[in-house]
Amino acid sequence: MNGFDEIIERGLNEIKQATDQNKLNELKAKYVGKQSELAQAMKKIAQLPKEKKADFGKNVNIAKQKILSFIASRQEEISNAIIDSKIANEKIDITLPGRKTEKGSKHPWEIIKDDLMEFFSSLGYTIAEGNEVELDRFNFELLNIPKDHPARAMQDSFYIDDVTLLRSHTSAVQSHVMLNAKGQGPIKVICPGKVYRRDDDDMTHSHQFGQCEGLVIGEKVNLGALMETLTLMIRHIFGAKREVRFRPSFFPFTEPSIEVDVSCFECGGKGCDLCKGTGWIEILGAGMVHPNVLRDNGFDPDKYQGFAFGVGIERLAMLKYGIDDIRKFYNNDVSFLHQFKGEK
Ligand code: PHE
Repeated sequence: MNGFDEIIERGLNEIKQATDQNKLNELKAKYVGKQSELAQAMKKIAQLPKEKKADFGKNVNIAKQKILSFIASRQEEISNAIIDSKIANEKIDITLPGRKTEKGSKHPWEIIKDDLMEFFSSLGYTIAEGNEVELDRFNFELLNIPKDHPARAMQDSFYIDDVTLLRSHTSAVQSHVMLNAKGQGPIKVICPGKVYRRDDDDMTHSHQFGQCEGLVIGEKVNLGALMETLTLMIRHIFGAKREVRFRPSFFPFTEPSIEVDVSCFECGGKGCDLCKGTGWIEILGAGMVHPNVLRDNGFDPDKYQGFAFGVGIERLAMLKYGIDDIRKFYNNDVSFLHQFKGEK
């Protein structure tokens, strides 16, 4: 033709070998830019005889278009190759075994708390939650424990100021529930939660532990109903074979007061180390709500009676699962916690 084929071929060869966009830009300038051979050729058009001008111009343009289309298709090849290599690098090997995520398990504290909530809900109790930071009035005074009463020594407490403390028992929720009811029964609640006492931590003592309070108030509530309820609860947690024993006791907010024992799990009542040779294990405190407590919390003691009980959550869990140290509940040792996988 007219010498342009050679340029086209040279261009094509170079374009084929380009592997990135920069090189292509360079080649575009070289072959079709202002300084390119084709541009130089175009300048010569003026000197050509008239009849050759049109063909010459046409051929320059064809050559330019060919080179531009080579560049465009090479450009597409390069960007496809980039995408392909990205996809290849990010490929997921679905035959590899997955990374295992460690599954948690319910804390024994929660297992017992939930079990109690489920059991008492099935008996028609509702659940009341109080505050862990409590007024002295609710923790003590409204429970028939005035200031300087010796019973306060039974529960050495963490005071925040003169009138505020970390509650030392879930009985503190009782007054809130009664005052909210404004003297109108019946009441049937449990109050599970954390309590705090100034104890030195050891195998059986912790400055923080859980309790579940129960409070029933009505017009025909008696000690027999309390004993029946506690027996049902104990057998629900520990199994139908457990014997239950009631002993007289003292709490300022109940009269009469009782303490409840369960027949020893280890020896079944014959006497062993766990039950200190007695055959019985103390499990909770309870009693009939003291008339002063009813009155101070807005209930007429001539019309209403009530019973209350308070049971330690760790204590139940320790006995049920044979846990020998209360501190294990708070150490967050995963191998301890994993032993409870599969418990409901
Ligand atoms: N609040 C008592 C305690 O923590 C337990 C209890 C609750 C006793 C309700 C009687 C009635 O020791």
